[in-house]
Amino acid sequence: MEIKTIMVIGAGQMGGGIAQVCAAAGYTVYLNDLKQEYIDKGLARIEKNLSKQVSKERITQDDLNGTMDRLKPTTDIHDAKHVDIVIEAAVENMEVKGNLFSRLDEIAPEHTILATNTSSLPITEIAAVTKRPEKVIGMHFMNPVPVMKLVEIIRGLATTDESYQAVEKLAVDLGKTAVEVNDFPGFVSNRILMPMINEAIYTVYEGVSSPEDIDSVMKLGMNHPMGPLTLADFIGLDTCLYIMETLQEGFGDDKYRPCPLLRKYVKAGWLGRKTGRGFYQYQ
Ligand code: CAA
Ligand code: NAD
Repeated sequence: MEIKTIMVIGAGQMGGGIAQVCAAAGYTVYLNDLKQEYIDKGLARIEKNLSKQVSKERITQDDLNGTMDRLKPTTDIHDAKHVDIVIEAAVENMEVKGNLFSRLDEIAPEHTILATNTSSLPITEIAAVTKRPEKVIGMHFMNPVPVMKLVEIIRGLATTDESYQAVEKLAVDLGKTAVEVNDFPGFVSNRILMPMINEAIYTVYEGVSSPEDIDSVMKLGMNHPMGPLTLADFIGLDTCLYIMETLQEGFGDDKYRPCPLLRKYVKAGWLGRKTGRGFYQYQ
């Protein structure tokens, strides 16, 4: 099947980035969120990213205009009836994703693939709320989407080769490298990354060192581009907590227990960069 039209659900940091790369690659993209103001914020971020590319002469003003024209803002999920694939990037919560997928299943045409950008939740469980589990798949982009090359593609129990191949082709068209991963909590990326971040948070919690020094150890000692606490703030501490909870529940192993300090920050509304405060403060 040929993908021409896409709906991205959630205009946050991931949904905005996914919509940007899809529209830049020539696809028509419906960008959906709960409120118009969230979509406007997402579109403003996309335009700012593209303007930087224009000023660096990587793209032309016409390219920017064309990409922005291909983005169709919508708060109406019924626009899913126009698309060949939906890429869901709403919050990391099974109830929210379950509700979305059962509605999308009713609205979208029969041929439409329903993909999720979930960081950790079981694809098979999301697929089970639909009558088309063969067309449900994980398409896990990395943050920031316009920069990071990887897309993890995760098959649910019933996902067909046809759905897999269509999503792999889309990832390649977007300039990404696709890696196939089986449906286990956290897949590969977050099963490895998130326990490291959680351990860094325990290191703050236990007073081993300051956030700045912990980040310096990992940046200067291990050549990581960002220290784990800067990265946690960048990802969003809410998302980090939900991923750790999924790992703990999915594997039933105490080694995945979220650090109490992570829980405390999320309860305080300190979600990292997106709220202006996490392990660091942002203006
Ligand atoms: N959106 C779009 N582009 C961005 C960006 C953003 N948020 N942040 C940086 N960039 C672009 C810059 O414009 C710049 O582009 P050019 O090369 O075209 O000029 C380029 O990225 C490099 O940026 P900078 O020079 O400003 O900064 P940097 O060299 O420190 O790189 C970074 C920034 C790419 C984010 C780098 O710090 C990095 O790789 N950090 C780690 C990111 C990472 O680990 N991501 C995975 C997170 S986990 C995940 O996504 C999965 C999950 O489920 C939680
Ligand atoms: P975010 O908080 O920046 O954005 C989420 C957006 O979804 C918000 O704008 C919110 O209003 C919207 N939303 C919530 N419920 C909705 C609904 N029912 N319908 C439409 N829109 C809805 O979060 P994010 O960081 O972009 O994460 C989104 C998803 O991507 C999560 O599943 C997360 O685990 C995954 N993910 C995140 C990262 C990351 O680094 N942050 C990386 C890969 C995958």
